[in-house]
Amino acid sequence: MIDDTVTAAPSLDVAHVRAAFPALALGAAHFDGPGGSQVPRVVAEAVGEAMLAGLANRGTVTAAERRADDVVRGARAAVADLLGAPEQGVVFGRSMTQLTYDLARTLARTWGPGDEVVVTRLDHDANIRPWVQAAQAAGASVRWADFDPSSGELSVEQVTQALSERTRLVAVTAASNVLGTRPDVAAISAAAHAVGALVHVDGVHLTPHAPVDVTALGADFFACSPYKFFGPHLGCLVADPALLQGIHPDKLLPSSDAVPERLELGTLPYELLAGTTAAVDFIADLAPGQGARRERVLTSMAAVERHEELLVERLRDELAGLPAVTLHGAPRHRTPTLLFSVAGHSPARVHELLAAQGVNAPAGSFYAVEAARWMGLGDTGAVRAGLAPYTDDEDVERLVAGVRSLAR
Ligand SMILES: Cc1ncc(COP(=O)(O)O)c(C=O)c1O
Repeated sequence: MIDDTVTAAPSLDVAHVRAAFPALALGAAHFDGPGGSQVPRVVAEAVGEAMLAGLANRGTVTAAERRADDVVRGARAAVADLLGAPEQGVVFGRSMTQLTYDLARTLARTWGPGDEVVVTRLDHDANIRPWVQAAQAAGASVRWADFDPSSGELSVEQVTQALSERTRLVAVTAASNVLGTRPDVAAISAAAHAVGALVHVDGVHLTPHAPVDVTALGADFFACSPYKFFGPHLGCLVADPALLQGIHPDKLLPSSDAVPERLELGTLPYELLAGTTAAVDFIADLAPGQGARRERVLTSMAAVERHEELLVERLRDELAGLPAVTLHGAPRHRTPTLLFSVAGHSPARVHELLAAQGVNAPAGSFYAVEAARWMGLGDTGAVRAGLAPYTDDEDVERLVAGVRSLAR
C-alpha cells in the first residue's frame, strides 16, 4: 500500500545516489542495510577531516578546543534537524543499546514493587532486555504486548491492554527491524501518557526510511543509530531537555552536570560526530529541496520513502510469486524490509548461496529474538532483505533471480 502523504514527493535520482557510495562499486547488491547502511564518501571524509584538523577536548581557548566544541554542537543540531527535536535534548553514546541500558538503569531507581513497565514482542532486544532487567532489579513487574504472528501487526489495543495506573514506562518500536511493521506510535504514546507513563521509542529502524517527527510520535525518548542512516557507528537518544533535567545518572565528579552532557559518559567521539553531521547533510541533499536543513530532510525522506515503497512492492510481488518462498508477516504500514524463507534451504544456507551470487541478504533473528520465536521461527530466524535509497531495479532483479535459482 502506498502512503498518500508521500505521493507528491520528488523522485530520487538513484544513479546519482549510488555514485556517492564507493562500496557499491565493489559490485554487491546490498540488502543488508537494516544491519548498517553503506557509507557515502562525504561521511568518511568528514570523519577523516575531523581527525586531521586538530582536535582537543572541548573548550574555548585554543582553535583545537573550539573545533571539538563546534563538532559537538554541529552534530546535536544535525540530529535535531533529522528528528524534529531540540538540540539540547540530543544525547550521544556508543550505541543505542548502551544508551538504552544507561537510561533504563537510571529510570529504574525510581521504580519499585507494584510498578510496571510494558515491552512488546515485536521489538529488537535492545528495547526489551534493558527494561526487563532494570524492572527486575527494581522489583517492578514487566507486562508484555504481543503482536499478531501471521500479519506481523502490533495493534494499539495490544499495547493498551497491558497498561495500568501503575505503568511507569512503555518501550515500543517505531518500526520492526525484521518485519518492517510500523505500529501506531502516536496513539500508543497518547494512551501511555493518559496513565502517566513515559514512552521510549526505538527509532533505529524507522529513521533511515521515513521522515521522523518525535513530537508527533509523542515519544518522550527516541533512540536511533547513525550507522543505519549512512553515518558512523554510534547511537543517539533524544528527549525534551526539561525531561532530561530531572534524570540523574551516575557520573564522574568533575564531569559536566549540564543537559545533555550529564548523560554522556566520558569524551565524545568527535570524529564520529562530524561524520553524523555529514550524514544528515547528505540526507538533506538526497532530493532537490528548498529551505532550512530540517525542511530539506523532510523532503528527502519523503522521496526515500516513496522510492523504497515502490521498489519493495515489486520485490514482494516477485518473491510472493515463487512457490518455494514464504514471506513472513504482511503489516499494512511498514518499512521496505522483508523477511522470508525458502523451502528446502536453511536461512543461513540461503544467505550463503545468495552471497555467492553477489547478493547480500543476511539470515537470522537479527536480535529481534522475541519476535522470531513468537512467529515460530526460533532463533534461526529467516532471511532479511532490506532496501535503502541506493537500492535500484537491478539489485531487486538480482535478488529475485538468486532466490529463484535456489527455489527450483
Ligand atoms: C530496531 C533496532 N533497535 C536497536 C538496535 C541496536 O542498535 P545499536 O547497534 O546502536 O545498539 C538495532 C540494531 O540492529 C535495531 O535494528
